Amino acid sequence: MADTISILERLKPINLDAGSVFSGKPSGTSVVGFAKPSVFTPAKDQSYIFHDESRDVAVWFLDQNDPLYVFGPQGSGKTSLVKQIAAMLNYPVFEVTGHNRLEFPELVGHLIVKDGQMSFEYGPLSLAMKYGGLFLLNEIDILDPSTAAGLNGVLDGSPLCVPENNGELIVQHPMFKFVATGNTNGTSDETGLYQGTLRQNSAFMDRFWLVEIGYPKPESEEKLLAKTAPTLPPELRSKMVSYANEVRKLFMANLSKGSETALEVTFSTRTLIRWANLTVKFQPLAWQGLSPINHSLDRAMAFRAIPESRVFLHELLQRFFASDIAPKSNTQK
Ligand SMILES: Nc1ncnc2c1ncn2[C@@H]1O[C@H](COP(=O)(O)OP(=O)(O)OP(=O)(O)O)[C@@H](O)[C@H]1O
Ligand SMILES: [Mg+2]
Repeated sequence: MADTISILERLKPINLDAGSVFSGKPSGTSVVGFAKPSVFTPAKDQSYIFHDESRDVAVWFLDQNDPLYVFGPQGSGKTSLVKQIAAMLNYPVFEVTGHNRLEFPELVGHLIVKDGQMSFEYGPLSLAMKYGGLFLLNEIDILDPSTAAGLNGVLDGSPLCVPENNGELIVQHPMFKFVATGNTNGTSDETGLYQGTLRQNSAFMDRFWLVEIGYPKPESEEKLLAKTAPTLPPELRSKMVSYANEVRKLFMANLSKGSETALEVTFSTRTLIRWANLTVKFQPLAWQGLSPINHSLDRAMAFRAIPESRVFLHELLQRFFASDIAPKSNTQK
């Protein structure tokens, strides 16, 4: 803990040019970040693609004091977007994933016994508040609403009282930022997709700036696949993106009609990347008469569908990729 604190105490806030940081072109608008990254700064992901909705989160970083709530479907890039922007500004990030038994000590800290002595160990929220950093609470909509509402004071900018540490009062550092992510907008989930999410207290939700992150546009996902699976032919990557969007469209249509049509699974950006990566890994199967794209689809997502949906997903695949699916003959070896 002493090491953690000395690292955090050495971090120096600095004014940076927002344009240079976010787009490589100076803009004259300043954004406060840190002079250098630390071990708490997320690693930059060179294959990360900033898309249109990324702008909202970047604007929030400019000087927004309200906490931020980022919501959107599974695997659309909410958590990674926040962490990638934090990385550009060298922010230390203290990340926690919500669960329904999460309680305050997990966030604030607790007493530990070390070398026969009791001492207080700061939790992620306390560290971010006291030394300046971004506190990222993922899956916030799974929290028990009364636990979540217990954060209202912090969200309002009030100090945090820590009775276990001799009643220490942690005043919010000017570089403290609070970001929550969730699959719902806090009104709970009517689709049944996000089991475990709960309707949150309205006064709690009222404190946030909200940003919705949907799946990126096809051009962005194509760029993403070009970076993550560069060895796949561009036409194949483009068809994979079209296929993913068709599955999303059919899935949404089924959801809104409340129909009992088979398609109950959808394609996240996470799944799309996995599918492309597996297709590369399974290339050797082509010489054994198997289709890598078909084989990978099951492993990337179709195995979690009910049998009828899986059949449907493969029929659809056939329509999109007829020529690519035809396995190479063994004589081509
Ligand atoms: N724009 C993007 N550029 C590069 N990678 C991305 C992008 N969007 C998502 N990903 C990748 O997809 C995966 C899922 O992203 P992430 O965990 O951020 O999604 P999420 O929306 O937080 O998901 P969940 O709803 O499950 O919490 C990660 O591996 C991430 O790197
Ligand atoms: Mg997430």
